[in-house]
Amino acid sequence: LGGGPLSGRHVIVTSGPTHEPIDPVRFIANRSSGAQGTAIAAALRALGARVTFVTGPASVPPPSGVTVVAVETAQEMAAAVEAALPADAAVMAAAVADWRVANASAQKLKKDGSGRAPALEFAENPDILALVAKGPKRPRLVVGFAAETTDVVAHATAKRARKGCDWILANDVSPATGIMGGAENAVTLISEAGAEVWPRMGKAEVARRLAARIAEALR
Ligand code: C5P
Repeated sequence: LGGGPLSGRHVIVTSGPTHEPIDPVRFIANRSSGAQGTAIAAALRALGARVTFVTGPASVPPPSGVTVVAVETAQEMAAAVEAALPADAAVMAAAVADWRVANASAQKLKKDGSGRAPALEFAENPDILALVAKGPKRPRLVVGFAAETTDVVAHATAKRARKGCDWILANDVSPATGIMGGAENAVTLISEAGAEVWPRMGKAEVARRLAARIAEALR
């Protein structure tokens, strides 16, 4: 892999869900498989990039040829991304839990016979994408994702501004599309230049197309 267009470039990719502990044996999670993030890391590697792949507990294996940093929680993911900087680009494809359990128990929660259920309290997790995009070590190109079900372009455009990233890859995940858990993706690339609707294609093809655009942007 000597001479790809991204050789000499370092790209951080986040992927997969996060697990937020309730107690030592229980956690809150989400249905992210990590498939799109894994495909993006593989496509960047194929173009010669040095890839740091920060992944939550995904259900697909990480690609070969990348530096894998396996984490569980959003806070661990934030620390791992921070430690991996500087980078030329960052692609935040992880489905980070918005909240963690603030009163997680050090011991396994047990029924106490009273019939009362434990009450979980939540605290907001760090927004890793916004922290990186607004931080002092900001990569030249910062890419985020947005899963939307309505007004995809309007919501993703607002998200791009709010988070301070350069591009947002917006997916329409409304049930009728069959995208969630499927092999295909319907993506709109939101940039300063506006909204670019990509044809519906496989997740590997989305990844290759994004990697090519990143190579172009960093040229
Ligand atoms: O706000 P929302 O979760 O829809 O934003 C999605 C984008 O932000 C994705 O790129 C995701 O990886 C990133 N994100 C993050 N840290 C969070 C929440 C979202 O990096 N705590």
